[in-house]
Amino acid sequence: MNILIINGPNLNFLGKREPEIYGDKTLELINSEIKDFGKKYGMKIEFFHSNHEGYIIDKIQQNYEKVDYLVINPGALTHYGIGIRDAILSTNLKTIEVHLSNVYSREEFRHKSVISDICIGKITGFGSEGYKMALQYLSNLKK
Ligand code: DQA
Repeated sequence: MNILIINGPNLNFLGKREPEIYGDKTLELINSEIKDFGKKYGMKIEFFHSNHEGYIIDKIQQNYEKVDYLVINPGALTHYGIGIRDAILSTNLKTIEVHLSNVYSREEFRHKSVISDICIGKITGFGSEGYKMALQYLSNLKK
């Protein structure tokens, strides 16, 4: 199974960014833990981070035929990134939405996601474990 994991704006600052909310692991460390986890299930995982919506859209468009699933934490773009929504819709890429924090226990503007309704499901509030939970779920599916 081929999986693309995308992280959006400011997630490259994990480790130093509001650690009381997002934890103290860097994105690099989180990705290496996810990679090891995925190996157990024979998953091939590609990681991509960008602070820019257009680059995220490019990545989805360039890879949708090569991957079976997308796991995405769009960061702040979750709440208004219609371009990402349209990229997922136009490629029909099966997608899981992940957030480290529990967006529902935070400011109201974080309660709204422009992609939740077009995703398989959403994992929010379990820190970096959320990415592994998504993979765990996918490991039970046929491609
Ligand atoms: C986030 C939640 C978003 O509201 C925020 O803008 C982020 C991170 C999370 O993982 O909890 O950048 O997606």
